[in-house]
Amino acid sequence: MRDLCFFTIFILGLLLPGVHGEDPYRFYTWKVTYGDIYPLGVKQQGILINGQFPGPQIDAVTNDNLIISVYNYLREPFLISWSGLQQRRNSWQDGMYGTNCPIPPGRNMTYALQVKDQIGSFFYFPSLAFHKAAGGFGGIRILSRPRIPVPFPAPSGDFTVLAGDWFKRDHAVLKGILDRGHNLPFPDGLLINGRGWNGYTFQVDQGKTYRFRISNVGLTTSINFRIQGHKMKLVEVEGSHTLQNTYSALDIHLGQSYSVLVTADQPPQDYYVVVSSRFTSPVLTTTAILHYSWSTKGLSGPPPGGPTIQVDWSLNQARSIRWNLTASGPRPNPQGSYHYGLITTSRTITLANSAPMINGKQRYAVNSVSFVPASTPLKLADYFKIPGVFNLGSIPSYPTWGNGYLQTSVMHADFRSYVEIVFQNWEDIVQSWHIDGYSFFVMGMDGGQWTPASRASYNLRDTVARCTVQVYPKAWTAIYMALDNVGMWNVRSENWARQYLGQQFYLRVFSPANSWRDELPIPKNALLCGRASGRHTRPL
Ligand SMILES: *[C@@H]1O[C@H](CO)[C@@H](O)[C@H](O)[C@H]1NC(C)=O
Ligand SMILES: *[C@@H]1O[C@H](CO)[C@@H](O)[C@H](O)[C@H]1NC(C)=O
Repeated sequence: MRDLCFFTIFILGLLLPGVHGEDPYRFYTWKVTYGDIYPLGVKQQGILINGQFPGPQIDAVTNDNLIISVYNYLREPFLISWSGLQQRRNSWQDGMYGTNCPIPPGRNMTYALQVKDQIGSFFYFPSLAFHKAAGGFGGIRILSRPRIPVPFPAPSGDFTVLAGDWFKRDHAVLKGILDRGHNLPFPDGLLINGRGWNGYTFQVDQGKTYRFRISNVGLTTSINFRIQGHKMKLVEVEGSHTLQNTYSALDIHLGQSYSVLVTADQPPQDYYVVVSSRFTSPVLTTTAILHYSWSTKGLSGPPPGGPTIQVDWSLNQARSIRWNLTASGPRPNPQGSYHYGLITTSRTITLANSAPMINGKQRYAVNSVSFVPASTPLKLADYFKIPGVFNLGSIPSYPTWGNGYLQTSVMHADFRSYVEIVFQNWEDIVQSWHIDGYSFFVMGMDGGQWTPASRASYNLRDTVARCTVQVYPKAWTAIYMALDNVGMWNVRSENWARQYLGQQFYLRVFSPANSWRDELPIPKNALLCGRASGRHTRPL
C-alpha cells in the first residue's frame, strides 16, 4: 500500500510538474453536480461539490501540494479558481478562463497546486459563466508549518464563515439579465455558510477562544460582520498576520477574507452572529447562532446593529489594519517585505473603473476597455504562439476617459519589476479589486483624485500584504506589488456582475529567459480548446 502510494506520487510527479516531491501531498476528488438547495426557503438549483453546499473545506499546511481532481457532471463547461492562492510560477492552474480551457460536461481535470510560502484564509469558487451565484465555493485554510511560531495561542476551534449576498433567481437567469445588457436586480438576502436566518450554529465552550475565518463570497455587496456581546481580535488578513486590534464590527468587501479570535467570555446562552450589507438601501441582514455548549437559554434581544452607509467608518477601520512586524511567518516577498516602502517603483499603473453603455448594453470597463473573452485561453495562445487571440498593450495603463470599447485586454509587465498601481474610482459605489497570483502592499487610500502628492500619506512601514482591496466611492487606493511571479494573471472586480460584463483584464508578467526556474512547463494533462485544440503539450 505504502509502495503503491509512493509509486502514485512518482507518476504524478512526472505528469504534473507543478508539484514538488519533498513537500506533502493532499489528494481530493470532487464531483460537481447540480442539486436542490433551499437557502432562502425556496427551491433552487445549486452547484454542489461532493453533494455539499458550500463545498468541502481545503485544509493545508504551507508548501503542501494539492492534487484536486474535478469531475464535471453539470450540463455545461466548468472551472474552479482559487482566490488568493499565489500559484508560484504556475498560472496554468489558476482556473480562470484566460488561463485554462473549461472542463467539458462529463469530463474531468486534475489541478496540481502548491501553496508555496503561504499561510492564511482564502476560498475557491466557480469562475465561468455566472456559476458563482449557484454555490460551488468553499473555504481554504493554510496553517503554518509545525515549529513556525504563530503570534497567538492555538485556538480551541477554527470556524470558516462564508458569507455574502444571494439571489433566489437561478444563475442562468441572472446571466441572461447580464447578457441582455442590464445590471443585476438587488439581492434577495444574505447567507452564512449556505443558510439563511439562524440556519447555521457555531458551538463554543465557555472560556475558550476560537478563530473565525470570514470571507465575503457574495456577488455584489460589501458586508459587515459582528457577534452579539463579543469582541473580535483581528489576527490575519489574506495571509498577513496583523496587529491584534479589537473590533466589535468588521467590514469585509467582496472577495476579502479576515481571521478574528473570539473568546466565549459571556454568560452561557445563544448569541447572534450577524452579517449585514454595507452601502446599500435597504440594508440586508442575516444571522447565525453562537451557541454555548450545555446552555439552554436561547437568543435574546434584537441582533446588534452595525454601520450601514457610513464610508468614513469603513475607511478609518481599513487604515487601522496593519501588519505585525514582529510576527514570523511566510511573507509575500521575502527580500522586499521588510522594506517594501523604501524600494523605488519602476512604473505607475492607474486603473479607473467605469460603467459605459456599449452597443446599447450596460458594460463595465477598466481604462475604458471592457474585457471580452477570446475563444482560446490567453495563456495557451501565448504558449503556442497563436496569433490574433490577443494583443499586448490592448489596454492602456492609465485612464483615457474616452468612450468605452470591447477588447480582449492584456497588459504587459516586466518580471521582477516593482510597480505602483493606483485604483481610481470616480463612481459612487465601492469597488473591490483582486489580482491573481500575487499578494500586494496596500499603501494608502483616500477620497478624491490620486496625485503624486498622495504618496505623502502612504504607510511605508507596516501595511498588510493581501490580494483583494476595496476602493471607496469617488476615492483612490494605491498598492505596491513586486512582479515576482511569471504568468498570465487575471486582474478583476470582485463585483461579479461587473467582472462578468468586462471589469477585468489579464496582466502578462513575462520573462524572456523561458526557464523552468521562472515558470513551470505546461502541464501534460492541460485541456486544449479553441485554436489550441490538437496541439501538443510536449514536443513530439
Ligand atoms: C478523466 O480524464 C482523463 C483525461 O481526459 C480520462 O482519460 C479519464 O478517463 C477521465 N476519468 C473519468 C473517470 O472520467
Ligand atoms: C505581534 O506578534 C508578536 C510575536 O509573535 C506577539 O507577541 C505580539 O503580541 C503581536 N503584537 C501585536 C500588537 O499584535
